[in-house]
Order: sequence, then structure tokens, then C-alpha cells
Amino acid sequence: MVLIKQASDQAILEAAAILKAGGLVALPTETIYGLGANALDGVAVAKIFVAKGRPSFNPLIVHVPDIESAALLVEMNETSRAVMNKFWPGPLTIILPRRPGCAVSDLCSAGLPTLAVRVPAHPAALKLLKAAGVPVAAPSANKSGSISPTTPQHVLESLGDAVDFILAAGPSSVGVESTVLDLSGAKPLILRPGAVTAEDLHPILGPVAYDLGDHGHDVKSPGQLLKHYAPSIPMRLNAVDVEEGEALLAFGSLKFMGMKGGGFAKDLPAERLRNLSDTGDLYEAAANLFRLMRELDKPAHARIAVMNVPNQGIGIAINDRLKRAAAGSVIPHNKQGTQ
Ligand code: TXA
Ligand code: MG
Repeated sequence: MVLIKQASDQAILEAAAILKAGGLVALPTETIYGLGANALDGVAVAKIFVAKGRPSFNPLIVHVPDIESAALLVEMNETSRAVMNKFWPGPLTIILPRRPGCAVSDLCSAGLPTLAVRVPAHPAALKLLKAAGVPVAAPSANKSGSISPTTPQHVLESLGDAVDFILAAGPSSVGVESTVLDLSGAKPLILRPGAVTAEDLHPILGPVAYDLGDHGHDVKSPGQLLKHYAPSIPMRLNAVDVEEGEALLAFGSLKFMGMKGGGFAKDLPAERLRNLSDTGDLYEAAANLFRLMRELDKPAHARIAVMNVPNQGIGIAINDRLKRAAAGSVIPHNKQGTQ
């Protein structure tokens, strides 16, 4: 049976003991809930891959409580330190060369010479990392390929008894996974967009390109190969109206959103309508994204139509997740919106 406890100091100590003993602990972070294991313990890390059904070629992010703990694991220079000083704790994962003798299980790197490290900003996560005293490998606490969890309930629904302990601390505040920044090569690259954008990094790094693996060659982040965040029903992006049988994932005002064949989207029955942010606030939309995708993911709906979300700031991360979620959607009779 999985134990779920609110993240009191006592519960955090219990969770730390389970981690040290080789168990799996779902932990709250500011981005999403993670499925944690002691990164020094290969058997514990292997359990993550089994619980998630994750392909073993997909490496994991290792979480540490501070920069000095990261310095034991990866090669740093002035630039990467400057980035860490500015953005940690926070929703930024940094990929760097593994240090020779780095004690983290090779499974976390999935055969690559690099390691992804992050100091999360959630107070309960930081307390847990300090109490455990070991680096913690933690991918999203969901089945591989499905929608990432932003509440303890999502973790329970997705993983059930495959996890030993769920440390509960309400909904995640950011709502999309951390930005993955690769600093292991000649030029900095963002491999996964998140709350920290190229614009935010510019003062330290200069221009930072996005490489989201959508060019089909030389994919740098194995996670990019996978269909991700997918609901079980199809999605139709950039919808400018709502078609028969569809549910609507709205963004901003519904004033100009109509039903194909007549009527207004605002009059849809409550179960067919969710709004990422009534006021068009991109941060609110990110925080709501995965929960609302889940709420509309019902067999009663033919499909989820999604309104256009501006591709700026954290909107870049929202659109990345939406695009991946829709990637496998077969839309037989109607064309995908192009706006
Ligand atoms: O917000 C987050 O980052 C959450 C919380 C729990 O911290 N974690 C998370 O982990 O999203 P996961 O495993 O779902 O995503 C990690 C991504 C994957 O796309 C993986 O391929 C990539 O980071 N990655 C990890 N290590 C890498 C490496 N050494 N080189 C390239 N990509 C790497
Ligand atoms: Mg994931």
C-alpha cells in the first residue's frame, strides 16, 4: 500500500528514510511532482524505470539541495556557476559533463557522458533533499508518455502502488516541467522549454537557441523522441471554433469563439469546457495546463479542441507540451487549425 502524507517535518524525515533504504518517494516540486529514488543506488534507480514503464535510454534529472552538492557530480565553470547562482533554486535543469568518479548510478545518464542536475525551489523538496543527504533522481511521477502530475492525486492515479510514499503539498505552482538547458557543448541549448526562457538566460549566456528535437536528426535529449503528455483522446490545436462532440480547452476570452454550425462556446456544458486562464495570464495557464487536460480527457468527448496560446515566455513551454500531446492525434475528417 502506498502511504500518502502531508509534507510535515515528520513526514519528510520518513520519506528521507525510505529514499535512503532504496524505496521510491513521490515528492512535490514547484514544477510538477517527481518520482524520487536515491541516485547513488542503481537498484533503486532501476525501480523508477520499471514503475514508469520508461525506456532505459531516457536519462533522469538528479536533484540536489544546493550548488555545492551539484559540484560533486558535474564539471562546472564560471559560466555554469553564474547560471546556477541566478536561477537556483528554481525550474531550471542544467546538463553538464559528469565528473570523473561521480558516484551517481550510470542509469541516470543512460549511457551519456553527461548528467542533468537541478536544485528545485519547493521548500518540502529542499528539506527532503537535505534530510536524505543523497542526490535524488526524479523524473515526473507518472507513467512514461502520459500527462505529468501536478497534484498528489494525479500521482496516485498514474502510479498507484508502484510508489512507496507520496509526500503531498498541494498543487505545483509552475505546472510545466523545468527548462532543460544543455551547457555540455560548445553552445548553450535549450532542449526543453520551461518557465526559464532563452530571454531570461540571455544576460548571462548571450543568445541561447532552442533545440527541441523536432528536426528529426541528431536528437540531443532522448526524452524528445517520445510522444509525451498525451491524453487518451485526440487533441486539435489552434482551434478557432468548436466541432461536434469536442470539448474545449480555452485560453482567454471566449467572446469570439463559436460552435461550428451555430452557437457560442461559452454556452458549452460545464463538463466540456475548461479555461487555462480567463484573463489570458500565461503563468496561470501553465499552472492549470496538465490538470485541465486530465479533466477533459474523458471517453465521452470525441476530441479536445485547444485555443491558440501565444508563443512567448512560458507560453513556449505550454505550446511545446500541447504539440507533443497532439502529436499522435489522428484527425480523420477535419483539418487541424492553422492559425
Ligand atoms: O521539472 C522537472 O524537471 C521534473 C521535476 C520532478 O524536477 N522532472 C522531469 O523529469 O521532468 P523527466 O525525467 O520527466 O524529464 C527529464 C528530461 C527528459 O526529456 C530527458 O531526456 C532529459 O531531461 N535529460 C535528462 N538527462 C539528460 C542528459 N544527460 N542529456 C540530455 N537530456 C537529458
Ligand atoms: Mg516526464
